[in-house]
Amino acid sequence: MPSPNEILAELKKVKYPGFTRDIVSFGIIKDIEVAHAGVTVILTAATAKPDVIEKIVADVKAAVAAMPDVPAVEVRIEQPPPSAAHRAAPPQAHRDIPGVKHIIAVASGKGGVGKSTVAVNLALAMRARGWRIGLMDADVYGPSIAMMVGVEKAVSLTPERRIIPLERFGIRYVSMALFVDSETAIIWRGPMVTKLEAEFLFNVEWGNLDCLVLDLPPGTGDAQLTITQRVALAGGVVVTTPQDIALIDVKRGVEMFREVNVPVLGVIENMSYYLCRKCGKRHEIFSHGGGARYASELGVPFLGELPIVRELREGGDNANPIVAANPRHPVSIAFGEIAARVIDQIEHPNAREAAERG
Ligand SMILES: Nc1ncnc2c1ncn2[C@@H]1O[C@H](COP(=O)(O)OP(=O)(O)OP(=O)(O)O)[C@@H](O)[C@H]1O
Ligand SMILES: [Mg+2]
Repeated sequence: MPSPNEILAELKKVKYPGFTRDIVSFGIIKDIEVAHAGVTVILTAATAKPDVIEKIVADVKAAVAAMPDVPAVEVRIEQPPPSAAHRAAPPQAHRDIPGVKHIIAVASGKGGVGKSTVAVNLALAMRARGWRIGLMDADVYGPSIAMMVGVEKAVSLTPERRIIPLERFGIRYVSMALFVDSETAIIWRGPMVTKLEAEFLFNVEWGNLDCLVLDLPPGTGDAQLTITQRVALAGGVVVTTPQDIALIDVKRGVEMFREVNVPVLGVIENMSYYLCRKCGKRHEIFSHGGGARYASELGVPFLGELPIVRELREGGDNANPIVAANPRHPVSIAFGEIAARVIDQIEHPNAREAAERG
């Protein structure tokens, strides 16, 4: 019997009726179940047109049935639930991870704002304050944490086939990228990745941690929402840059956490100003301070701002993050202050809620 992955690869050859794109990249494959009795492909109804749905079902059936050792094929169409119900988090879906005291997620409304850089250095700064920290790169498509902390070696499993996290700079970490090669990552687009990711988290032997930091994929779509729904999060951090265009996304990030009832620990403004290496002075490049203003408009804490410094990028590229490499650097000190605020927020949620109520 073929694996779900092989079936997905086969379905990639099926075109969406009337389009040159295939049905997999359309994101309509919700799930593939391979059982003794046969294969079940679950599709989301991307259209209300019955003839299109019929054609897709027939094509999927034909494609899967043509694969060797497939005794039967069933195709099920899942109707999208009404949108409000779809977005609201069912409380029982929130799960704890045994041994892990708190889980926080680092998100951004858009890509490239330095979310992974912040996640790594924040994790290290929390570690420097004595917390036992785990870090998970939940971004299958942009696996940056592995590069930033410099671990490429193969991952080992316990006899129960649980994943043993890698350790560097005193933090434990795991990246989806270590398990998903780039080709698979491209095929596994859409809801299946999300499902995989959420499950993945629970299959890691984290041991005892004070906090697990999740570096979410950029954006605030379904993938992010699913993870924030499945795991019991102590809070979310939103990273932004000072440009107006990025700041609009802060709202989206904050709203994403609010939708699933996850407290927003605060907003971090990255690449806020330029810190000159030579003169040590700060130069305002963008009209900085927008992050603080937006945070206050949205009623969430502002955690701090981080300058643009070359060492921060170099640290990322050379697998030597600045907080570990140079704890006395002004940026490392800024991370330390942010970490202290994050820790305080996690430890005193009641104070935060009281402040939010005004
Ligand atoms: N404050 C900073 N100063 C200088 N360079 C920075 C700073 N923050 C991030 N960078 C650099 O900007 C680039 C993007 O950062 P990073 O990969 O952390 O962003 P991201 O939001 O995680 O991106 P993606 O959306 O691709 O996941 C990297 O090369 C990083 O080293
Ligand atoms: Mg990233």
